[in-house]
Amino acid sequence: MTSYIIEGGKRLEGEVCIDGAKNAVLPIIAATILSGKESIIHNCPNISDLDTMIEILRELGCRVTRNNKTLIIDSSSIDRYEVPDRLVRKMRSSIIVLGALLGRFKQGQVSYPGGCPLGARPIDLHIKAFKDMGACIVEDHGFIICKERQLRGAKIYLDFPSVGATENIMLAGVLAQGTTIIYNAAKEPEIKDLQDFLNAMGAKIKGGGSDTIIIEGVESLDRVEYTVMPDRIIAGTYLIAGAITGGEISLTNVNCSQMRAITSKLREVGCNVCEDKDKIHIRAPQSLKSVDLIRTQPYPGFPTDMQAQFMALLSLAEGTSIILETVFESRYKHAKELIRLGANIQLEERTAIIKGVNQLQGATVEASDLRGGAALVLAGLAAEGVTTVTNTEHIKRGYGSLVSDMSLLGANIYKGENM
Ligand code: UD1
Repeated sequence: MTSYIIEGGKRLEGEVCIDGAKNAVLPIIAATILSGKESIIHNCPNISDLDTMIEILRELGCRVTRNNKTLIIDSSSIDRYEVPDRLVRKMRSSIIVLGALLGRFKQGQVSYPGGCPLGARPIDLHIKAFKDMGACIVEDHGFIICKERQLRGAKIYLDFPSVGATENIMLAGVLAQGTTIIYNAAKEPEIKDLQDFLNAMGAKIKGGGSDTIIIEGVESLDRVEYTVMPDRIIAGTYLIAGAITGGEISLTNVNCSQMRAITSKLREVGCNVCEDKDKIHIRAPQSLKSVDLIRTQPYPGFPTDMQAQFMALLSLAEGTSIILETVFESRYKHAKELIRLGANIQLEERTAIIKGVNQLQGATVEASDLRGGAALVLAGLAAEGVTTVTNTEHIKRGYGSLVSDMSLLGANIYKGENM
């Protein structure tokens, strides 16, 4: 178990450049399976989820070369169609590989991802859509097995705009016979990035970023070179690092238009936020103000992936704030750790009531998921004394340079010994 040790109380200042987005690069890497040719992907973050995805592709038989932030993937040599259970357990979103395997080989097998720290997280929408497209799916002893069967286009209505299901259907539909239409699709910017990547390979997809996506099946795909979009959640997390430490920081390589739900809440707590195309600047107020309500929603609503970090910030805001988590049933594990640091938080099912305190105090706390772990680091940056965040493996899944970036901005943060 690895840890981060933070001596809190340093005001952050300076500028950092934001990495490529985890939630864009993972489906894009899965999509490289479809072409059977070489794909070159730039701006890949140095995160452990990417390592897992590379391991999956190698298990399937792909040749993968990594050169700093560039990946070269040759999927011509795939000769296996099963994703090993240990890799699905490591990263739930490996289910995304199934759509690509089905799309190219008309068959595939993954183990059932099961529950996770955020709740049950079913995959019924993925399975139902594959069946609607003609796939023959058997669920057997914890495995989802898709037998060889040609896919055909279908009209699919999603009961909920699931990000993963939308991406999986796009991947399965690219090489299917006929046209697939997804209604009530997820509108997250990462979906549009996947569409742009697939179209650059020769796919015919329209509507990514809106609630209706139309995928016209094509016969084959080409070699591609592509640069992944910046990570809006890392950018949001870093803006909070500036805000929670009373600091003033700038971020480059961001897409400001994708961050409106986050920046509007930061303005509500009193921060001064200036946006300039691919750059964003934040100056913290003298004292933070509470917000009436943060309600997590699918994009363009407030992202559930920023809920924990805002809870850390609101712990130090004057007055009472309310958070309502509507996307995941069980995404408040960080609350009890924030309470250890001195926060005043009450939980009522999906609602969190946060009464701001004047100061947090350093303590040893445990990260239990990716964003919750990041929230503990943020709280530690503001807390008096030393905070040790343990189990930082969770954080490394999605933040490739958190420690070096925070150090660059002036934080006293170190990697601890393995425990
Ligand atoms: C993706 C993101 C994750 C983010 C989430 C919501 C990636 C790799 N991960 O996860 O960071 O927090 O979107 O923005 O992109 N659901 C069902 N049945 C299904 C699928 C989903 O009921 O078949 C439910 C889930 O349980 C959850 C909600 O839909 O309550 C949203 O899940 P979804 O959008 O699918 O999230 P992921 O794609 O898993």
